[in-house]
Amino acid sequence: MEDQINKVNRRKFLKTAGVATAGTLLINPLSSLKAGSKKKRLAMVGTGVRGISMWGKHVIKDYNDKVEFVGLCDINPGRVETGKKYMGVNCPTFTNFEEMVEKTKPDTIIVTTVDSTHDEFIVKGMEVGCDIITEKPLTTDEVKCQNILDTERKTGKNVIVTFNYRYSPHRAKIKELLMQERIGRVTSVDFHWYLDIYHGAAYFRRWHRLRSKGGTLLVHKSTHHFDLLNWWLDSEPAEVFAFGDLEFYGKNHEFRHTHCRPCPHKEKCQFFWDITKNEHYMKLYVANEKYDGYLRDGCVWKEDIDIYDKMAATIKYANNVQISYSLTTYSPYEGYRIAFNGDKGRLEAWIHERQPWKMENYDEIRVTDNFGDTDLIQIPHGGGGHGGGDTRLKDKIFKDPNMEDPLRQAAGTRDGAFSILIGVAARKSIDTGKPVKIASLTDLKPQAIRPK
Ligand SMILES: NC(=O)c1ccc[n+]([C@@H]2O[C@H](COP(=O)([O-])OP(=O)(O)OC[C@H]3O[C@@H](n4cnc5c(N)ncnc54)[C@H](O)[C@@H]3O)[C@@H](O)[C@H]2O)c1
Repeated sequence: MEDQINKVNRRKFLKTAGVATAGTLLINPLSSLKAGSKKKRLAMVGTGVRGISMWGKHVIKDYNDKVEFVGLCDINPGRVETGKKYMGVNCPTFTNFEEMVEKTKPDTIIVTTVDSTHDEFIVKGMEVGCDIITEKPLTTDEVKCQNILDTERKTGKNVIVTFNYRYSPHRAKIKELLMQERIGRVTSVDFHWYLDIYHGAAYFRRWHRLRSKGGTLLVHKSTHHFDLLNWWLDSEPAEVFAFGDLEFYGKNHEFRHTHCRPCPHKEKCQFFWDITKNEHYMKLYVANEKYDGYLRDGCVWKEDIDIYDKMAATIKYANNVQISYSLTTYSPYEGYRIAFNGDKGRLEAWIHERQPWKMENYDEIRVTDNFGDTDLIQIPHGGGGHGGGDTRLKDKIFKDPNMEDPLRQAAGTRDGAFSILIGVAARKSIDTGKPVKIASLTDLKPQAIRPK
């Protein structure tokens, strides 16, 4: 019997994923970035590694005929100059956001600062008539979130939240299979994400380690995962109950120092990270420490770390789907397991993003029918960041904002809000020991089916 259930009856190797599903209504929060002859005037605030590469150098390289940078801003005067050089632009630089906006009159502002400051630039930008492209998370708490929602309604400007995870080929394939009701009606989901001892540790080295800056990893990191759930399920979260604790990093260690370079324990510390081997980081961060004291190679054992390193949450959706979610931050390998349980079968995947052993060049989704067989669907890895997802996301924003969006991958403030509100609710639940209703956080009312 077991053999029969596990029997693999056919293998599919898809050349492309995210195949268009006809007839889906488009929601297009990008509509104000219309493809036109005039170049869009872009200004960026936050010239760290994310801003100047994904939203800087790469945008100039690939969309030079569509956009131009008119200003760059960062509180660190050295980093904004280094960023400008790296991007190869000759626009003016600023350390004051208002001055940049006043002098350069951008159409669109790209927000790539520390998470807890996103709201300030999103709100101020819209108030002076700009559209916004913001990195995730939209913001870090419910008050800031409400302020963003109110300002968007008041000004009628557009906010794009760049959820690049939605665009990777295997995730788009999962979305397509769920839209086709391949396993019937989904009733519950098991979703477990593992950050490894390199990537996971990186969050404990710098500002992400502080709740006041990144809102804990339940917001900073899990916003990606919660957004995927909201998008895959096409529903909005209603209630959250969570546990979380800090048991590995931070105070849980016998020795520590300020940062790795001068550390007297470097010989014996398995988490020693030698930033001097990374020329780009040396120029962007280390050379500019003198301005703000930002240590990119901070100690993962610092006692001021106040975020959780293990988290578990139960989420109930407005359509009654239940989620069992967890995030681990010191795993030997990186990736996630997901399983959607439906009334006709089960769809599951065990995705390895990094592992010590040889990686396959495809991701595999397993679909098993109740009383039936198993299909293994293999999706080749796309080239480029996040399996080619980063390029697809940017094409939609800069090349053709009116591009069809059958899987509804484009995201605006409502998506940005619901993804962070799960994390905010989880945080509150951990603090109080009680379940938290999402509707109690802002004026957004979770809908069983995501509004178009
Ligand atoms: N979507 C993704 O996969 C992804 C990946 C990495 C980072 N990110 C997001 O991108 C953003 C930037 O991340 P990063 O790794 O480049 O961080 P970073 O710390 O390297 O860069 C942030 C920059 O913002 C500047 N800054 C901070 N406060 C500011 C303020 N008030 N005014 C002006 N500048 C200010 C800092 O000086 C720094 O240069 C974060 O919001 C992060 O969550 C998203």
